[in-house]
Amino acid sequence: MFTKEDLNAEILSNVEVAPGHYLMALSVSRVFRDAQPGQFVMLRPGGRGVPFLGRPLGIYSLADHDEGARIEILYRAAGRGTQVISTLCEGDRMEILGPLGNRFDLPPDMDTAVLVAGGIGIAPLVFLAQQLSCRSAGVRVVVYIGARDAATLLGLDRVKVCSAEVRLSTDDGSAGYRGPVTDLFREDLGSFDAVKTAVFACGPNPMLKRMSEIVADHPISCQVLMEERMACGMGACLGCTIEVRTRQGVQYRQVCSDGPVFDLREIVWR
Ligand code: FES
Repeated sequence: MFTKEDLNAEILSNVEVAPGHYLMALSVSRVFRDAQPGQFVMLRPGGRGVPFLGRPLGIYSLADHDEGARIEILYRAAGRGTQVISTLCEGDRMEILGPLGNRFDLPPDMDTAVLVAGGIGIAPLVFLAQQLSCRSAGVRVVVYIGARDAATLLGLDRVKVCSAEVRLSTDDGSAGYRGPVTDLFREDLGSFDAVKTAVFACGPNPMLKRMSEIVADHPISCQVLMEERMACGMGACLGCTIEVRTRQGVQYRQVCSDGPVFDLREIVWR
């Protein structure tokens, strides 16, 4: 159960780090100290009517801070709600609900972690790369980052300090490989030992669907963090329903409460 203190956050900074992309640091309660890579928060400006509903945003980093914690949120100002959030300043209050959802599952015998990010999908994967570098000594971390162009390649500085190997792609070829990040990943897929490698991916649904096609005939394991529109974030409104394959056939799941992390092969793509 969340206390009133858990639902309040204070903005420490909120700056544009790339065209249309912002990095917000928040002072939050100590309940966030246990947040795990893959989990998210529902965030809305405190004391305002707009946006009416919270916005689901992935956690980019976590550190202890005073009596509580400091989290960072990397987000794109893509709609009205996130545009309003992007105008907020140091000292402004936010209403926050979290940490919510499940987390990436780290196989105990994994010796290589391959992270594949498209666009703002890098945000939760940076948190994962940080945890792998701190707690999983000896695990090789390879990070694929795809973006529209060099200016919108995000998270590079963070994954480099995690001793990760980084592969870049841009749609316009202004940095790294020219083309979708999934093509770059597909070129390297055969070089990974499927038994000891785990893939973790996040990005827009067309990218994740393409990932499912690429690994369809390959035994490598792949977890994906699904990004869906959400209203409640807690399994009550059914607004984030997706279809998954189970032994009992196709069933419905809520991204917010059953996910947001799923086995890629379970997802039914429409
Ligand atoms: Fe309401 Fe998921 S956002 S059920």
